[in-house]
Amino acid sequence: MNNTKKTIPIACDHAGYELKQHVIKYLIDNQYDVKDYGTFSDESVDYPDMVHPLGRDINKGLFERGIVICGTGNGVQMTVNKYPNVRCALCWISEIASLARQHNNANILAMPARFIGTEIAIDIVKTFLNTDFEGGRHLRRVEKINQLL
Ligand code: RB5
Repeated sequence: MNNTKKTIPIACDHAGYELKQHVIKYLIDNQYDVKDYGTFSDESVDYPDMVHPLGRDINKGLFERGIVICGTGNGVQMTVNKYPNVRCALCWISEIASLARQHNNANILAMPARFIGTEIAIDIVKTFLNTDFEGGRHLRRVEKINQLL
């Protein structure tokens, strides 16, 4: 993904607020534009309220890739994965982020703020934004994801 003039939407709950601010700084320092869906403080909130709008907008194709953060990463991931064009991957090390892009063509990255440090999180974000989908046999598999029985 060429980072010039790319806008990255990002959303979190209170548990992810501090990490979100670090990630936003990284993105801006690296010439990305950021659309921040909140939350905007560490006051307790319900994560679906922040991440539904981001999931909706990725689903519509308004953005290519996004980032969601909560304490475990699970609540935000579960929420955005309700949208059919969303493939959100929970990543806690950069190798998982790399494979989520190469094999799953993930378009949203979920991170568990209470279980990873800032340095690892930035490494994950960098990998997620700079790794291409491999296609081929993986495309066939990704196309089957929405084929519910
Ligand atoms: C908030 O306490 C926590 O439940 C939330 O951040 C997240 O981990 C939920 O999945």
